[in-house]
Amino acid sequence: MNIILIGPPGAGKGTQAKRMIDRLGVPQVSTGDMFRAAVKEGTPMGIKAKECMDKGALVPDDVVIGVVAERFEKPDCKKGFILDGFPRTLEQAKALDGLLEKMESSLDHVVVIEVPDDYLVERLTGRRTCKGCGYMHHIAFDPPKTDGVCDKCGGELYQRDDDQETTIRQRLKTYHDQTSPLIDYYSKKSIVRMIDGTGSMEDVQGAVKDAIGA
Ligand code: AP5
Ligand code: MG
Repeated sequence: MNIILIGPPGAGKGTQAKRMIDRLGVPQVSTGDMFRAAVKEGTPMGIKAKECMDKGALVPDDVVIGVVAERFEKPDCKKGFILDGFPRTLEQAKALDGLLEKMESSLDHVVVIEVPDDYLVERLTGRRTCKGCGYMHHIAFDPPKTDGVCDKCGGELYQRDDDQETTIRQRLKTYHDQTSPLIDYYSKKSIVRMIDGTGSMEDVQGAVKDAIGA
């Protein structure tokens, strides 16, 4: 099962992907998570990526495509993957077509999680991510039992550097300008499933299940 999750920042791509991996038996491939890991390690790629991420801009296509191509070579991707945050440009979508062709594979579903911009600033300013397991809490919509501590693993919760309101607004603009045209690109292949992302996390997962039939 090869799935792409498309949606604006805060739409719930990561939240929904984490609810799908065990059920579908395929990994979540999040380019954002991969860049944040590189930033933490202080690699040259991480330093370059951080400059773009802090501005709410995209990391250059050649860097992103290289990272994904390498990730696809890992054995856990043999059964498929849930792509979270990739592709984000037409160039990346075309590169993905090429990678899939080489793997003699193809896309099953492109799930678009639709949420109006008004909801997203609140979702992102309230997000608190676990340093240990990566689980995303929300101070209002999914608060941890103890402030600053992850319910799942007891790890420390932190706020992402790019979850400041001015950066969020720039990320939303980047999404509308550069990523939303991909919906049209994939519509031509008749694999797009549009989902209302404004309900509860469980409601949205229900809609995803209905849309992909699994
Ligand atoms: P990335 O990490 O992918 O960030 P993003 O696309 O901006 O999306 P987010 O992770 O912020 O949101 P999400 O949709 O995953 O929402 P979540 O589930 O956490 O990318 C970061 C940066 O890396 C980019 O800006 C770019 O610079 C770079 N980058 C990454 N990929 C790239 C690429 N392919 N090309 C170029 N550059 C790239 O939910 C958000 C919050 O809301 C959480 O707190 C959650 O608890 C809550 N929530 C979720 N669902 C609901 C719900 N239904 N109701 C109420 N609350 C909810
Ligand atoms: Mg995410």
